[in-house]
Amino acid sequence: MFLRHVAQTSPNPLGLEIVKAEGLYLYDRSGKEYLDLIGGISVCNTGHRHPRVIRAIKDQADRYLHLLVYGELVQSPQVEYAALLAAHLPASLDSVYFTNSGAEATEGAMKLAKRVTGRTEIVAFNKSYHGSTQGALSVMGDEYWRNAFRPLLPGIRHVEYNSPGALAAITPETACVIAETVQAERGVVAPNEAWLRQLRQRCDATGALLVLDEIQTGFGRTGTLWGFQRYNVLPDILLLGKALGGGLPMGAFIAHRQRMWSLTGDPVLGHITTFGGHPLCCAAGLASMQVLLESGWIEAVARKEALFRRLLVHPAIKSVRSSGLLIAVEFDDFEQNKRIIDACIAGGLLTDWYLFAPQCLRIAPPLSITEEQIEKACSIILSSIPAHL
Ligand SMILES: Cc1ncc(COP(=O)(O)O)c(C=O)c1O
Repeated sequence: MFLRHVAQTSPNPLGLEIVKAEGLYLYDRSGKEYLDLIGGISVCNTGHRHPRVIRAIKDQADRYLHLLVYGELVQSPQVEYAALLAAHLPASLDSVYFTNSGAEATEGAMKLAKRVTGRTEIVAFNKSYHGSTQGALSVMGDEYWRNAFRPLLPGIRHVEYNSPGALAAITPETACVIAETVQAERGVVAPNEAWLRQLRQRCDATGALLVLDEIQTGFGRTGTLWGFQRYNVLPDILLLGKALGGGLPMGAFIAHRQRMWSLTGDPVLGHITTFGGHPLCCAAGLASMQVLLESGWIEAVARKEALFRRLLVHPAIKSVRSSGLLIAVEFDDFEQNKRIIDACIAGGLLTDWYLFAPQCLRIAPPLSITEEQIEKACSIILSSIPAHL
């Protein structure tokens, strides 16, 4: 029934049937446990089913679910969550537009940038991922995934991340530059700090808005609450998603209130959504962010990253790239990596590969992972590498 009635996106899906998830572990129908090294792809930063998140969902379900489209009624979970986010962001990022997904946050940000600047061109980066809808696909930086869906949005220029030469592509015609703070699906490529500052300066000089996509790097993933804090660069529009909803679906684009105001007129309702910022998702996300802020897990990210790096040493491992608990373990090629991933899963460790770096094994666990669990995970990875390598 799974294969017949649930739409598939790859010819050979894993097909594991998970019946329960708790903390760092998933359990299949036979009772076998899997240590979750990918957290639903950077979603479950506070682990699966954190008791405070579950409590918040139940409490909200007892009050109300859907009321009316976003932005009309005062819904306290939205208001409280937007206020908490703003309290942990610079004053220039004080207005939160909640969406259903990361891709929709990308769409909203591109529309907002066009509206604020009156321009239409967008600069994006090779090997970047911002979502799968047509607009987000247009800024995605890989021709293999883009090409089959052309024609896409016009006026988009793709340039090389971390390359000083790329800055010339940003001109007075550019509405916005959209970049991941750390390129995740490229196999964890961090920005050169000086380059990111030059990118900011080039945006200021040309009047282009800088959109930083922290859908994967937000909520402590890189060791600070937001990835951009590591580089002393502020975006004009911030994209959030994944961990934002504490395990429920949500995205957001965040900007200064004055800029966001441009979506209210000419046309009115410049971006609308039925379910974006659903009270249940906001209640879950709010509780999850509070847990994260109080837990000390973000402060421990660098130590846990170092432990992974210390343990993941093997002649078959070509490199380990990391930005906090976003780690890519590089093998020779996809075939080798896939064999190791399959052996890990058989050995009770759930992992995956990166979209634009299929030779890299993905490590992006809940930030609540313990040192013992890291040791166990690394031991399963190392023992999953074929003996002849
Ligand atoms: C950096 C980044 N941006 C945007 C997205 C799109 O988010 P969603 O899948 O919620 O549309 C993703 C999803 O993987 C992502 O990693």
